[in-house]
Amino acid sequence: MSEQWQTLRDGFLPDGFLWGASTSPHQTEGNNTGSDWWRMEHRSGGRLQLSGDAVDSYHRYEEDMRLLADAGLGAYRFGVEWARVEPVPGEFSRAALAHYRRMIDTARRLGLEPVVTLHHFSSPAWFADEGGWTGPTAVPRFTRYVEEVCAILGDVAWVVTVNEPNILALMAGHAKAMEEGYEVDLGADVRMPAPDTGIGERLVEAHRAAVAVVRARTSAKVGWSVAQQSLVPAPGAEAAARCTELRYAWEDLYHHAARDDDFLGVQSYTSQTVDEHGVVPHPEHPDNTLTGWAYRPDALGIALRDAWAATEGRVPLLVTENGIATADDTRRIAYTSEALRHLYAAVAEGVDVRGYLHWSALDNYEWGHWEPTFGLIGVDRETFTRTPKPSLGWLGGVARRGGGLVG
Ligand code: FCB
Repeated sequence: MSEQWQTLRDGFLPDGFLWGASTSPHQTEGNNTGSDWWRMEHRSGGRLQLSGDAVDSYHRYEEDMRLLADAGLGAYRFGVEWARVEPVPGEFSRAALAHYRRMIDTARRLGLEPVVTLHHFSSPAWFADEGGWTGPTAVPRFTRYVEEVCAILGDVAWVVTVNEPNILALMAGHAKAMEEGYEVDLGADVRMPAPDTGIGERLVEAHRAAVAVVRARTSAKVGWSVAQQSLVPAPGAEAAARCTELRYAWEDLYHHAARDDDFLGVQSYTSQTVDEHGVVPHPEHPDNTLTGWAYRPDALGIALRDAWAATEGRVPLLVTENGIATADDTRRIAYTSEALRHLYAAVAEGVDVRGYLHWSALDNYEWGHWEPTFGLIGVDRETFTRTPKPSLGWLGGVARRGGGLVG
């Protein structure tokens, strides 16, 4: 790709373009003891590593935010943890809500625009006991929780209702299968079944209800964030037809549900081919990342175009996650800089992109594993000392130059 984006300055990207980084509560806060994930980790018989103290961001969020702001970033995406806010069905914790309100205030004070996620994979354990997303109480329970959280969101500009509903549907389907005694293999090398569309439709219902509540009670722009698959058909009519079918189950169901939202969160890491048998597992390659995914910074461009087309070009996009699991920070910079070139190319074609939030601010608990490190900031898990990596300063520099990739 040409070097035309090297010296990009303000004026090319929309005014107020957000430059920032993302986290989620369960992955960073620590001791999320009331959640279904905490319980699942402890019941996994060692299959899942424990989140434990995570990176203690419940107490250290100010330090985390300050590092991002000092580097030059202007936005921070973080989440509210349902299990803390509603530890028992119908009982809401004022103290937990006050904690998240302090996070919003701290972000603002430091010059970071808060982007707040209401549900990021984990739910209260009691919600799982009621049947979780497949149970009869799912939508009213979630709606009630969202109503309570809205009390602290009055002046927040960006609210994500549900993180990656498509992956949540996949996980809920797996949880159901495991309860029924089936082995579930989530490796990058297996042919994954598509997310259960029935669960997906339930999540659409929950999302719609949450959007209505957020719109009625706050002035925020509201949307949800979809895990973009960037599926590309192998040659041939059969593969093309299979790709269209799988795209629906994997992401278009969720894109279509976003058509009347204020924005759509785009989360992109890699891309996969579809053949007549389905999604082809990531081929073995020395470039594969620590999650086993193919090194595909171009996936972001595919994701933005697919999301834009599926929402009929009427919903602004916000990159709410993009990044790479690697122990080599030079590679993180290379990946991100290439991904941004693809973002700029999509913008040049007319795709409306409002911001770029890198995953992740910190090396954190990667859903059962500690090894895949996505962070701009390293963390010593004994002392919780934070060490910014060169990629943090690099991304902050990009932000300060309004997107320019070199100084
Ligand atoms: C996404 C999740 C996020 C993180 C990244 C790597 O699926 O939203 O929490 O795990 O992938």
